Amino acid sequence: RKRVRTRHFQNAKENGIPIVGLTSYDMLSAAIFDAADIDFLLVGDSAGNNVFGNETTLSVTVDQLIPLTRAVAGAAKRALVVADMPFGSYEGGPDDALRTAVRFMKEANAHAVKLEGGVRSAAQIRRIVDAGVPVMGHIGFTPQSEHGLGGHIIQGRGDGAEALLADAHAVEDAGAFAVVLEMVPSDIAGRVTKELRIPTISVGAGPNTDGQLLVWTDFAGFSQGRTPRFVKQYANLTQVLTDAVTAFRADVASGAYPAPEHEYEG
Ligand code: KIV
Ligand code: NA
Repeated sequence: RKRVRTRHFQNAKENGIPIVGLTSYDMLSAAIFDAADIDFLLVGDSAGNNVFGNETTLSVTVDQLIPLTRAVAGAAKRALVVADMPFGSYEGGPDDALRTAVRFMKEANAHAVKLEGGVRSAAQIRRIVDAGVPVMGHIGFTPQSEHGLGGHIIQGRGDGAEALLADAHAVEDAGAFAVVLEMVPSDIAGRVTKELRIPTISVGAGPNTDGQLLVWTDFAGFSQGRTPRFVKQYANLTQVLTDAVTAFRADVASGAYPAPEHEYEG
């Protein structure tokens, strides 16, 4: 099981082999996904919501994401581990962005970083790539700018298509090895995928891309609240754990746990 590298992303696109990614925030889930040959694990700033219980992704910090990224990188033997640069850690400019990327590489053993924005983030992407750190772009709906965008709104519709294409080309020209398209209509995502040399990864951008990515707590039925339309739920971990904890509590109440096989002899 050889480590997935950015060149494998490029080969996958050229050979029409879909790239598969999930988010992960901890060692246990990372080990399972890695053993199942998930190609890349994104330590998303969605950890702000799914680990730390924040309302949006905006408040999570680099200091919070570094230990999670280190845990995922330690468990991933094959998958490429991508550290998500949180809001406020790269907008100040290329120096700012490089400083954050270097922290994720040195302190968390990440293999690549991701940051949001196309044209507006091109200079940051370029600086990080020039330092030898692979960058995954992220365009379309970018959750860190949800207040600027006016909510969770599908991007690239109608007149927005040209802006999305400009963002896609800016990310590619800046040297990114792949780009996430979030909440984009399938036809425009297909157009971006055809125009770019680098692979496109869909999060709610339909089937016409080079890969798919989901937030792991969504795909596994372990998230709180509503999940978006594009999510397919492959398990119901909330139900599994609810049943388990209910049974544990009942067993302790009835004396069924611990049983003789759980006891140590003197
Ligand atoms: O933080 C995250 O989980 C993400 C993906 C949804 C693209 O950025
Ligand atoms: Na993110």
